[in-house]
Amino acid sequence: MKRLGILTSGGDAPGMNAAIRAAVRTASAREIGMVGYIDGFAGFVAGEYLELDDRAVGNIIQRGGTFIGTSRCPEFLDAGVRAAAVHQMRAAGIGGLIVIGGDGSFRGARALEQEHGLPVAGIPGTIDNDVYGTDEAIGFHTAVNTAVLAIDHVRDTSESTGTMFFVEVMGRTSGAIALHTALAGGAAGVLVPEAHEDIAHLLDRLHTSIERGKRSHIVVVAEGDRAGGAFAVAELVGRQIDHPFRVIVLGHIQRGGRPTARDRIVASVSGALAVEGLAAGRSGFMIGMQGGRAVEVPLSDVVAGAHPEPEYGLLQLAQTLSG
Ligand code: F6P
Repeated sequence: MKRLGILTSGGDAPGMNAAIRAAVRTASAREIGMVGYIDGFAGFVAGEYLELDDRAVGNIIQRGGTFIGTSRCPEFLDAGVRAAAVHQMRAAGIGGLIVIGGDGSFRGARALEQEHGLPVAGIPGTIDNDVYGTDEAIGFHTAVNTAVLAIDHVRDTSESTGTMFFVEVMGRTSGAIALHTALAGGAAGVLVPEAHEDIAHLLDRLHTSIERGKRSHIVVVAEGDRAGGAFAVAELVGRQIDHPFRVIVLGHIQRGGRPTARDRIVASVSGALAVEGLAAGRSGFMIGMQGGRAVEVPLSDVVAGAHPEPEYGLLQLAQTLSG
């Protein structure tokens, strides 16, 4: 294999740049060229790419986002569009593809392998950390740290003024950010999409801690929580509790920023191993982190597997420790 392509797809996640850098430099050490498709599968379909050599990926390991751009590309669901893209790619002498993204992006990659025999590898990159087969998708660690920092700031004013805060974090279908943020941020409560939260139970805990004289109260709500996000939860709870409250939506702040050391390390290892696997002639795998070790997970398992469940033990612990 003389030349590979790489793209980032779906929501961006801090550490994607570090993964691209590692893939490019690992390929270069093996005298394999690399191109970066612009804006994910959209660039793949249009045949728009950048030539990436060692210097092209200098000074990006510390940068959030993805310097080659990303998008969601509905046209890619069309088999004819995929066939034309592969034809164009092969004509340019590009013999394999690395896709950094979530399971929707891996479905696209797998279709290319199944329909056209194209060698493909996946690297999980999504702040939601909801990809089957990995404990740590790139970006999750950074997003949680960003949310925890925000909560630390909010807690100062909560303690000073006695205001209760409902903080909405990202996660349309995944409570991973909410759960980890709540535990690390010492939240009084946490609501996630996967579990039915008993508002009465949350109210009880809030009443008890107010009676005990606690002044700072932070409730973390995942955007996809069944009650309808932080504004809806604040309305439900605020109506039944005689306490001043405010709502904060952290939103896309969580998607950007400097990746943590952990995300850079996971990204670097994953980028390198994706290239090594393809160079060794393997295909149809994702580099996952399992128990702290990087492993190749078949993409067929990844796309068939259920989204990982939240760690309910952590949910209970966050509640027990909320005071
Ligand atoms: O990247 C994942 C994610 O951040 C989800 O948590 C969120 O629901 C979604 O992306 C938002 O994406 P968009 O910016 O495309 O609306």
